[in-house]
Amino acid sequence: MSDLMKRREEATPKGIGVLCDWFVEKAENATLWGTNGKEYIDFAAGIAVLNVGHRHPRIIEAVKKQLDYFTHTAYQVTPYESYIELAEKINELAPISGKKKTCFFTTGGEATENAIKVAKAKTKRYGIIAFGGSFHGRTAAAVGMTGKVVPYKAELGIGMVGIYHGVYPNKLHNISVEDALKSLDHICKSSISPYDVAAIIFEPVQGEGGFNPAPKEFVEGLRAFADKYGIVLIADEVQTGFSRTGKLFAMEYHSVSPDIICMAKSLGGGFPISGIVGKAEIMDCVSAGGMGGTYAGSPLATAAGLEVLKIIKEENLLDRSNKLGEQLKNFLQGLGHKEIAEVRAVGSMVAVEFFKNNEPSSDIAKKVQTLAMSKGLLLLTCGSYGNVIRFLYPLTIPQEQFDKALNILKEVIAEAVK
Ligand SMILES: Cc1ncc(COP(=O)(O)O)c(C=O)c1O
Repeated sequence: MSDLMKRREEATPKGIGVLCDWFVEKAENATLWGTNGKEYIDFAAGIAVLNVGHRHPRIIEAVKKQLDYFTHTAYQVTPYESYIELAEKINELAPISGKKKTCFFTTGGEATENAIKVAKAKTKRYGIIAFGGSFHGRTAAAVGMTGKVVPYKAELGIGMVGIYHGVYPNKLHNISVEDALKSLDHICKSSISPYDVAAIIFEPVQGEGGFNPAPKEFVEGLRAFADKYGIVLIADEVQTGFSRTGKLFAMEYHSVSPDIICMAKSLGGGFPISGIVGKAEIMDCVSAGGMGGTYAGSPLATAAGLEVLKIIKEENLLDRSNKLGEQLKNFLQGLGHKEIAEVRAVGSMVAVEFFKNNEPSSDIAKKVQTLAMSKGLLLLTCGSYGNVIRFLYPLTIPQEQFDKALNILKEVIAEAVK
């Protein structure tokens, strides 16, 4: 064990789980260099944060420029233009009909928590419906909504009153859209009146849950259910947002729109920022002071966010997301291993799920991850059974480096399924 690893174990708690046994020295676009002298192709991108790559020169320049003016004032005390400009841009771009308003925070968990606060203020109700397999953050209410017990809730005293979980459709695991929509009726028969439900929160493509895309009929069913009972519909796009799925927002794939969208991660291009955008009449239900935060909408992060939006447009990252995703999907499907139970792709939100003897195999996924790391490719797992490898490369990755990563992947998958 390295000295630094020993210091890590001594100085920081176990609850902060760490994947790598090496430390980062430097990063550029899709490459990470470790203090161990090794180079890695980064297919984790800071967990979906770096759609525009590490240290995009335009982001570095925008943030450096901001550093020369001011680094922090607290927007709620002394406001600044970049916050407003970014809100205006998001209002223009978000797939929600009518007049919209946007506000910013720092983490994805804050975005989902604030979205439900807005919904509660609008409806004066207490209940929330979320889904199994979902991930909405680690803060108290956000983890209450998260639909995975281990490691997020077990032994942590999580018992948020008024949060119920429906089932999320998943063909491979035999959950139909009908089953999923019926689970809402079941919740409203057995646990809470639909007239006490403030919000339904869902991910248009579940992230931590396994990159499971919500079928169109499911999203339409949620919209209809929400409309029937006056419930606020919240789309959590923290992981799907800002080009990952080949659209700026994954909800653009659907014919119905949510009332509020949560965003974070790739909005800041490596700087911490999150936000919610929603129908103006809903967003204005919280009185002044009811939302915000000391660092919420930091001027460094709003400067970065404005640049991210320009880069996505000017570097055609939506197109690139679709092209790379298509290449990876075809590559994975072409491997022909019987252990590959399914390949899923919405743009570059691509995942491969492994089964062995008709059962989900977290062993294979873990092996793929470990072998890939030893060959210089950083991968993340996900899925309710931990048997899915997800791919989150920067969309700015050079083609040659992407092809090199696929060659490594071919080798390590072949080795892992042996
Ligand atoms: C869909 C979704 N919502 C919320 C979060 C929480 O974001 P954060 O870790 O920034 O609080 C995540 C993080 O992975 C996420 O994927």
